[in-house]
Amino acid sequence: MSRYWSSVVHSLKPYVPGEQPAMATVVKLNTNENPYGPSPRVIAALSAEIGDALRLYPDPGATRLRDALAARHGMAREQVFVGNGSDEVLAHTFQALLRHDAPLLFPDITYSFYPSYCRLCGVNYREVPLDGSMQVRVADYRQPCGAIILPNPNAPTGIALQRAEVEALVAEHQDDVVVVDEAYVDFGGESAVPLVRSYPNLLVIQTFSKSYSLAGLRVGFALGQRPLIEALERVKDSFNSYPLGRLALAGAAAALEDEAWFEQNRNRIIAGRQRLAAALLGLGFVVLPSAANFLFARHPGRSGANLAAGLRSQAIIVRHFAGERIADFLRISVGTDADNDRLIEALRLLVR
Ligand SMILES: Cc1ncc(COP(=O)(O)O)c(C=O)c1O
Repeated sequence: MSRYWSSVVHSLKPYVPGEQPAMATVVKLNTNENPYGPSPRVIAALSAEIGDALRLYPDPGATRLRDALAARHGMAREQVFVGNGSDEVLAHTFQALLRHDAPLLFPDITYSFYPSYCRLCGVNYREVPLDGSMQVRVADYRQPCGAIILPNPNAPTGIALQRAEVEALVAEHQDDVVVVDEAYVDFGGESAVPLVRSYPNLLVIQTFSKSYSLAGLRVGFALGQRPLIEALERVKDSFNSYPLGRLALAGAAAALEDEAWFEQNRNRIIAGRQRLAAALLGLGFVVLPSAANFLFARHPGRSGANLAAGLRSQAIIVRHFAGERIADFLRISVGTDADNDRLIEALRLLVR
């Protein structure tokens, strides 16, 4: 607290990111990073970018990267927005498109950054409870609102909606912007991107952090029809003209070129998730059906806090949220096979 703060700063409830421990020896399964490294083409592109050109500002229009994303998704450059991680793309979206007189709707159990953005941007919101099996029920969004945002797959549950359900939601709310946050879609969800051409109210947000192994580079993007993207550009150019540096622009473009690497890694993670889920079920855990690179699981005999602390004492870090309905769960990122094996062995001792 300080008398120098603006009133908006007093009212903020900042998001608390997962821990980034200094020790390299921990098994780090707490922030849904990709356990496999980025494509060698990314490393080569970054190395090539390091040099005299760093004295120059990067391209404020990010044209090469936006063209590559547009080509990948069959769109025009003007339908693509890029930002410093999808977190920044989300922040601009809250400012540009989600602030209306009627409340923004999102699930009561979801990405916990959304309420923080609401406070920062003055967005009034209403949480829509997940159903008894922790699923988003599209029918529950049939109510007056200013806009809707939801992750698909949802976080931290990992449960995905089918594209037809997302389409029903978007079609029912043609007067409202519907944002689908697809941070985890590449691990088994059905993307809403093919719906963009039919729905001027749909914005899809994705990231290079998870499926492209580039959380450290900070690149996210949004796809939508031109007026929505123009709104984001207007906010961006009123905030920071150069959200992506030269390294980020070059690295993300190179990652898109290496489809084989992308496919190989996401398939390894999907296979790892299946093995990990089976092992957790074998230990008596309840495991929600995940289409993401993490599992949300609880053990009937142990509290989530107790298990998270027990794992930590063995240098294994998972994410535990204290919120109502989810306090007994652990959110476990899928690691390498060796990471997953260490986790299972540690849990075996904790739950026996
Ligand atoms: C649902 C969801 N959306 C967006 C993000 C932000 O990802 P990034 O800013 O790394 O692109 C995350 C990060 O964990 C997430 O879980």
